[in-house]
Parts: sequence; C-alpha cells; structure tokens
Amino acid sequence: MNKPVRRLDQLLANLGYCSRREARGWIEAGRVTIAGEPADDFGRKADPATVRVDGEPLDHPDGLLLLLHKPLGLVCSHDDREGPRVYDLLPPRWRQRNPQVTSIGRLDKDTSGLLLLTDQSELVHRLTSPKHKVPKIYRATVDTDLSPGLGPLFASGTLQLKDEQEPCAPAQLRILGPREAELTLTEGRYHQVRRMFASQGCEVLTLHRARFGHLELGDLPAGQWRELPLDTFAA
Ligand code: URA
Repeated sequence: MNKPVRRLDQLLANLGYCSRREARGWIEAGRVTIAGEPADDFGRKADPATVRVDGEPLDHPDGLLLLLHKPLGLVCSHDDREGPRVYDLLPPRWRQRNPQVTSIGRLDKDTSGLLLLTDQSELVHRLTSPKHKVPKIYRATVDTDLSPGLGPLFASGTLQLKDEQEPCAPAQLRILGPREAELTLTEGRYHQVRRMFASQGCEVLTLHRARFGHLELGDLPAGQWRELPLDTFAA
C-alpha cells in the first residue's frame, strides 16, 4: 500500500482531526510531534507512522475498512435529507476524513445486513465493478408462495428487468420455506433483489444481506462494526 507523505496540516485535516487552519494552531501550540520531537513547521512532510497528537499515534493513518451490521432505517447516501445515514453511527473524526468514508455498494433503507465502509476509493471501484463478480448473499421473505420455476429462471441469465438493457447475470436461488429464500448475486443493480422478485409477482417483505464475498456478519449486533485489515481483499 502506498503511503503518501503529506504536509502535517493537511495530514491532520485529512484524518478528520480538525481544519487545516486549526492544525496550524495545534502545531504552534506544540501538540504535534514527529519522531518524538515537537513539530514546528506545519508545511513539513512527515511519515504518518512517526506523527503523534497529544502523545497519541494517529488514528488509522493508512485508511479504514469496516464491516458494519447495517440496521434497518438508515441510508447509504451521504445526503442527510434522505434520512439518518449509516455514517452517523461512526465516530465524528471518521466522518470528517478526506477521502470520506463511504459504503462499498449500497443497501436500501429497508434492508439490513453486511455493509462494508471504507475511505479507500480503489477498493470501492474494484469491489463494485461487475467484472469483479463478488458473490453477495441475501435472505428475503416475500408476500406469496415461491414457485419452483423461480430458481431455474434466476439462474438462466435471461431475466430482463424493466428499463434495463442487459438481462441479469445468473443468480442462485435457494428456497428455504414457502415464502423465504436466499439469493446469491454477483452484480449490484439498483434494488436488484426486490426488482427480480417483483418481476415474478412477489413483493419482498424483508431483506437482509448475510454475506459479502467470503465475509459474514457472525454475531455482530445491528448498528455495530468491526475493523478489517486493509488487505482483506488483496488480489
Ligand atoms: N437488492 C435490493 O433490492 N436491495 C438492497 O438493499 C440490496 C439488493
């Protein structure tokens, strides 16, 4: 992983500590050290691993990758006019980072489950690219009995959704009960699970993402996250 060497004021601002102007004040006040020595020049470039603020090492200077159990009712948009956001669960400093912490793909407001959050834009692009084909497993309950023909149809790669150019990629359906199923997708179109079932006359009543690639929620409670190593998806 490349570690960009940044000016001290920029480094503190990008990691969400304060504004660049405030960082200059912190440095002048002697709150920042580099390799144990007080930093006296806010324009100085420093290896983040050697920088401390008030004696503490920097907060995740190399980046963040979080596995969140998204609760119902929160949106993945950054626009707070759309409702309470998943980012509001995070500590204020993480919400002020630049690049900002964002979700890798999205879950609807009415969907719960495994959501990855990161400030690593390369990871967002790679894991949401259709060519990467990361399997994502959803558990859905629906309002009518599931027909046995649904599995072969979803697996066929011919299911055409309204207003889409391309049919859906083959998806695996495992029927768990008369109105409950697990669906594995390798793409992430807008409201895809709900639209796939709706195209066959079933309304999705509850939707939960149980897995993303090799990652599972385990017993992580809703609203909590755990940190993942940045190389979790290393090629
Ligand atoms: N498909 C949906 O319909 N909603 C989600 O949140 C995720 C996949």
